[in-house]
Amino acid sequence: MKNIPTLSDINIKNKFVLLRSDLNSDIKDGKILPSERIKQSAITIKELKKKGAKVVIIAHQGRPDSSDFTSLYEHSKQLNKYIKVMYVNDLVGEEALGAIKNLMPGEALLLDNIRFNKDEMNPSSKKNSLVEFFCKNKDFKFEYYINDAFSVCHREQTSITEFPKHIKSVIGRVMERELAALENLRLRDANCLFILGGAKPEDNIKLLKSKNKIITGGIFGQVCTLAKGKNLGAQNKFLAKQIKDLPKIITKIKPQSKSIQTPSDFAVKGKNDSRIELKLEEFPSQFEIYDIGKITIDQYVKEISKAKAVYMKGPLGYCEDEKFSTGTITILNEIAKRTKENKLFSLIGGGHLSNAFARANLNEKDFSHISLSGGALLSFIAGEKLPGLEVLKK
Ligand code: 3PG
Repeated sequence: MKNIPTLSDINIKNKFVLLRSDLNSDIKDGKILPSERIKQSAITIKELKKKGAKVVIIAHQGRPDSSDFTSLYEHSKQLNKYIKVMYVNDLVGEEALGAIKNLMPGEALLLDNIRFNKDEMNPSSKKNSLVEFFCKNKDFKFEYYINDAFSVCHREQTSITEFPKHIKSVIGRVMERELAALENLRLRDANCLFILGGAKPEDNIKLLKSKNKIITGGIFGQVCTLAKGKNLGAQNKFLAKQIKDLPKIITKIKPQSKSIQTPSDFAVKGKNDSRIELKLEEFPSQFEIYDIGKITIDQYVKEISKAKAVYMKGPLGYCEDEKFSTGTITILNEIAKRTKENKLFSLIGGGHLSNAFARANLNEKDFSHISLSGGALLSFIAGEKLPGLEVLKK
């Protein structure tokens, strides 16, 4: 990005730097699954350590109302597979303060989930305790704030939009790579097929007014199915529990719902965790939905064969369980195949697709670009200004 300085523009030797990374990852049975975000973030941390900075890392996991809202202890263990990083179970307390003060040049310290502090989600709160601690502390002074979390730049949150107002700011290597890949993107996306999945329907809504062909899966596909007036049975209850403001989201989707392609069938989890295929007509069902069904997979493969460009966001089913990753993996394989044949430009977004990549043995070489971002990328494609980027330009 022409108007945002990078790590190459600053001297950080012996200086305190505050790094905002995105380590947000999939969690199964309390364990973080192998995460591309963690692996990539380690690249920037390595460079900062090598250049002799005293690195304090802040990041989030989940949201205050979600089941994956946990501490970053497990993340620190994963991060340590790539680069040595210390960890304290604290954010703005005595333990964090002591550990920051004791940092030596070339050392890095990960603090706990920044969203554990309520001021993270309320950036304009008076006497914001995060701003007080990180930007106005008498015991240490950050020379630079480094934003390496493009994937959170669509959020107005303290660590994204407030810190750069107080500390000189640059972008990290993960963010730099992402922005470089996206710079030419808007030129290409006019006839792009949008495959929208994942578990954050409120993000996807932004793209529904576009003229592009849209096919859907995952939680988003189910919510769009509800918006068309269908009753999914047990899954209705699950969605109501899982998604904040579901009725409002459905109301927003409704006017566009006719032009969106939704699944014609689903795979549900039957007795003994078995995969059962049910046509849409067979709903409402007593079973919860875990994937798109085989008929839908075939229909979506045909759509991909007609497309010249594809943007896929988020998984189409529950990829933490192999049985229910069929939809996502078949679609990803088809996109990869056509990309390799030079028939398709493919952009894959959403950090939560990394499980599917690992299962399908796919990697970044198989697509035109894999983004670590979900909602932020989507906002970017929708042509919105990202608050986290705008503040860095100032
Ligand atoms: C993501 O997973 O897209 C980013 O980490 C942002 O998370 P959020 O949607 O909870 O803000």
